[in-house]
Parts: sequence; C-alpha cells; structure tokens
Amino acid sequence: MSKGRVVIFDTTLRDGEQSPGATMSHAEKLEIAGLLDEMGVDIIEAGFPIASEGDFAAVSEIAKQTKNATICGLSRANFKDIDRCWEAVRHAKSPRIHTFIGTSPLHRAIPNLNKDEMAERIHETVTHARNLCDNVQWSPMDATRTEWDYLCRVVEIAIKAGATTINIPDTVGYTEPRESADLIKRLIEAVPGADEVVFSTHCHNDLGMATANSLAAVAGGARQIECTINGLGERAGNTALEEVVMAMKVRGDIMPYETGIDSTKLMHISRRVSTVSGFPVQFNKAIVGKNAFAHESGIHQDGMLKNAETFEIMRPEDVGLSETNLVMGKHSGRAALRSKLSELGFDLGDNQLKDVFVRFKALADRKKEIFDDDLIALMVDSEAESQNEHIRLKSMTVVCGTEGPQTSDMTLEIDGKDVSTKATGDGPVDAAFNAVKELYPHNARLQLYQVHAVTEGTDAQATVSVRMEEEGRIATGQSADTDTVVASVKAYVHALNRLIERRKMGSVGYDEKSVSYKDVS
Ligand code: KIV
Ligand code: ZN
Repeated sequence: MSKGRVVIFDTTLRDGEQSPGATMSHAEKLEIAGLLDEMGVDIIEAGFPIASEGDFAAVSEIAKQTKNATICGLSRANFKDIDRCWEAVRHAKSPRIHTFIGTSPLHRAIPNLNKDEMAERIHETVTHARNLCDNVQWSPMDATRTEWDYLCRVVEIAIKAGATTINIPDTVGYTEPRESADLIKRLIEAVPGADEVVFSTHCHNDLGMATANSLAAVAGGARQIECTINGLGERAGNTALEEVVMAMKVRGDIMPYETGIDSTKLMHISRRVSTVSGFPVQFNKAIVGKNAFAHESGIHQDGMLKNAETFEIMRPEDVGLSETNLVMGKHSGRAALRSKLSELGFDLGDNQLKDVFVRFKALADRKKEIFDDDLIALMVDSEAESQNEHIRLKSMTVVCGTEGPQTSDMTLEIDGKDVSTKATGDGPVDAAFNAVKELYPHNARLQLYQVHAVTEGTDAQATVSVRMEEEGRIATGQSADTDTVVASVKAYVHALNRLIERRKMGSVGYDEKSVSYKDVS
C-alpha cells in the first residue's frame, strides 16, 4: 500500500509558548527551532510577530537560521499584523503567513462584525497576505463551533483569495473523532476549490481527544497536523507531536501515512522543551513519559525477557531512548562523559564539557552510580546555574527535625556582593525560602513547587520545579541535587533570576505581550 504524506506543522513556539508560564528566552526558542528542523518538522510556527518585540526578533532569527523547514508566523485579520508577520518570516528560505479570525457566533461577537462584514474582512486580509507571500494559511478560529453554512462560505472565500492551506481549529477541544473526520471530509466535498489546497487540523486537548481528533481528521482528508512537543499548550494543551507521529508509524497498517519526522529525536526534544518551558512531562505520558517503556509487574517483566514484543508495540530506541542505561561512576573519564552526553543528545563544546565534568565528579562523590537520568538532571542544573546572573546560592545549612521551628543559614551572592542571614520556617524548605526572601525581598508568589526523585534509592537526586508569579509575569525554575532542600533553593533562585530578567525586558517577552491572539481586531 503506498503511503500518503502528512505534513507536520509544529506550533510549540507559538501556541505552546502561549501557555501561561511556558515562556522561553530568545536563545531557547532558537535552540528548539533548530531541534525541530533537524528532526524533520515540515513547518515551524515560530511565533506571533506583532505580539511583542521579543516575538518578532525570535521569528526573524529563526527564519534566518532554519535550513529546511518552512517558517510560519501568526497574524490576526488586519493589514498591520500581516505586514509585521511578513517582515519577520520573509527572511526564511520558505516563508508562510498564517492569518486567522474567529468565525463562530461567540467569536464573531468580539469584534462586533456581522457575517457579511467578517466575510469581507477575510477576503481583504487573505488577498493582502497572498500579495506578500505565495504560501498563506488561513484559519477560522473555533471552526468546530461555527455554523456549517457559514464555515463553507468563509473557507471558499479564503481559497478564492489565495489561501494555500486551510486550517480547521478545534480551538476549545470540543469535537470528537467521528465529527472531526466528518467535518474535514464534508468541507472537501462541499467547498469549490477545496481540492487545490491542503486541509489542516489543529486540535486542543480539553476532553483528552486531541490526538484521536487529529488522526481522524487525517482519515477525513486533512494532510497537515498542527501539534506541539509534549502537547504543550494552553489549558489541557495541543495535540502532542510525538503521539500522532508514532501512532501513524506503529499503525501504518490502518493509517497508511508518512511524515518526515526522525522519531529517534523525539525523546531529546521532549526533554529540552520540558526544561526550557518549565513544564514537566507526566510520568505516564504516552511516548515520552518516564514510565512509557517501564515494565514493573512480574508478568510483564517475564514476558519482556522472553520476547519484547509481548508487551511493547514500539521499541524504546524508536523514540530515542538508548537501550543501555550505562552506569557511570567516579572513575569514568571525560571522554566517556562526552560520548554518553552526546548519545543523550547534548553535544558540548570543550569549555562546557569542562564545567559539566566538574559537576559530574562532585555528583559521583555523593552518588555511587550515575544513570542517564542523573546526567540529564545535571545538564538541566548546569543550564539553570548559567542563567543565574543576579542571585547565586553560595552556601546554606538547614536544621530540621521534630522540634521546630526549622532554621536555615544562608549566604547568597546578589549582584556580586555576598549577603547572609538566618531564617526560620514551617519545615526546612519554608525556612530556606524565607531566608532567600529576607536577602532578596520581593513580592513574587510561589504558584507551584514540585519535587521528583530522578532515580531510585535514598541517594537519588531530586529535581525541583518552581513557578513564580509577579504582577502577571510568570517564571519557572528548575534544579537538581542529591539534597532536596538545596535543589529547592536553587530552583527558587533560578525562577527569581528569570523574573528579574523579565522585569528588565519590560514589554518584551511572552507574558508581557502587548497583544494576544484573543484580541481580535
Ligand atoms: O486554537 C486556535 O484556534 C489557534 C488559532 C490561532 C489557529 O491556535
Ligand atoms: Zn490553538
């Protein structure tokens, strides 16, 4: 059976980054775009250029640096947005303008346009975009709650005005698989000119059906799936790229479609997106979760030893999990570390390797066996510390036990100057956080504090994620250490450093976008 090609459109850097708190720095966006390109994503939606100076700069830079993928930017249905978008994407070898407007009754009410006025707006804006760029995508936002007749009418207008891809968003995750397939199929049959464009599906996961709805849309005739790494996105997120790609690969017998994705790169990019966005991947997440390939029950383990296919429909290597979890220890040398890190997807320059090797030795002194997950945590930690430009943890001790209050002695380096204090709290972490707050007074609110053991055993490292909010700005921090309280303080300090950076950036940065895609005009 010959396979049809499904185009993978990744919107991690636009719809994913829009998730509150998932803000990425400029350098992080460039890194993720590079990884998406290397992995074989066809189209990268790199941002929403009019939203902020930061978004514009990231989209332009990604457009300039990307070797293979088409680079797309988002714009609302007005000339100013579209012009700004074009300014950013035009540097790409293959640029695309994506323009959208909410077409459902609820969304039409926001700009207060009647059906005819909106139809006119769509005609004008798609024509304008097409005059700038040969590759134009148009989306009727909230398509799955738009009246059928009106949806057909506006899709036809967009095609006549020159749109080359028609994306059908299930903006609020409302549809279900049969309806999703049917909607695309009926649109292709009903709308004149539909056979000349590519139909695309863009699903949100509010009812947990984003992957199923996307695959169903393909069965209905869509040939582009919009998705994000780890399903990152607002609320319950978007369709997860790794899920649709692996579903079509594993069930090619009933879904005879191909993508250009090198699936062995999935695990690494999943970890990187999790690290830079500060959104941990749930352990039982399909494909990229820590437990996705773990078999704990005796029956399963027995079956797996006899024949891996007994309980495994894909091999860990297929998604980039190395088969051997080679244990390293304090006698492992620099070359072994370099090669192991490279296997895990981290190619380090000599200086960075030198720094990571020192950390590795320090960890090996405290922990007998170092597993892959320890090294990944170490990389996350080293990256977090390199971003700690204002505040650094110099030293700390905590006294805890059954007799409270717990106390923490702490020395921080703040903008080059050492400052120390002793604070108390309700538990060691609280005492330590209070000490940081005494040394660096701030009004940021701790929204989330999460601790995970990286490996098994009482000497395991803990990875800690924190999310903080200050006047609408959100920043996350992560760190790892064999001492949970130390990891907690380092993560807290990491988040504070990111908040300070964001304050300095003023209006630049995703949380401070001057417009949002929900502002319709
Ligand atoms: O969910 C949605 O409708 C969107 C559009 C902007 C395509 O993200
Ligand atoms: Zn969306």
